[in-house]
Amino acid sequence: MKEEMRYLTFALGKGRLAEKTLELLESIGISCEEMKDKSSRKLIFVNEELRLRFFLSKGPDVPTYVEYGAADIGVVGSDIIREEGRRVYEVLDLGFGKCRMCVCGPAQAGELLQHHEMIRVASKYPNTAKDYFYNKKHQTVDIIKLNGSVELGPIVRLSDVIVDIVETGSTLRENGLCVLEEICPISARMIVNQVSMQMEAERIRRLIGKLREKIS
Ligand code: PRP
Repeated sequence: MKEEMRYLTFALGKGRLAEKTLELLESIGISCEEMKDKSSRKLIFVNEELRLRFFLSKGPDVPTYVEYGAADIGVVGSDIIREEGRRVYEVLDLGFGKCRMCVCGPAQAGELLQHHEMIRVASKYPNTAKDYFYNKKHQTVDIIKLNGSVELGPIVRLSDVIVDIVETGSTLRENGLCVLEEICPISARMIVNQVSMQMEAERIRRLIGKLREKIS
């Protein structure tokens, strides 16, 4: 009997990124009808014909699933890949989900970044913030981990500045803050488990090839 092709499993970061990823996959003939039902509480979706499985998870968990091989492939922002530092292959820049990782704060806090003063930095990205201030700017800082609405940090004087993603800049503007320094550009990336990349090389390479053609 012919051996059945094994399932390739995709982990997608919940939200806008997942929607864009599904659109992109659909454009190369990979669809998952089950996933479009917004009222469903199902966590995992299958395309039997192509032997593919998909699940949604919190963004920061995507590289975890991929490193451990619970998912072969993941799609997540490069901000999260950098922050999590997991052992995965980053194989493709998908070109959407573009934004910037920045140091932000009230305009007058710009001064504090010039003189290597000890400052407080609030962020959802403590590793990224630490790497930037310690290794690039050689400035000793106190990093405070927050889980969201980071812009509150300087407003309520929890911190002097924040390290966060800026997309349109409207959250900053509406809260009287601005970009003080840019750390790096961000976009959605496809990541692959290191063993899967060997074991399923042909299927994964074909997929990457089709996606690359589509987005170029
Ligand atoms: C992100 C980020 C900023 C905002 C930037 O927050 O942390 O707050 O989006 O977008 P903008 O430049 O277009 O205003 P998110 O919406 O993910 O929510 P969170 O603050 O709860 O993390």
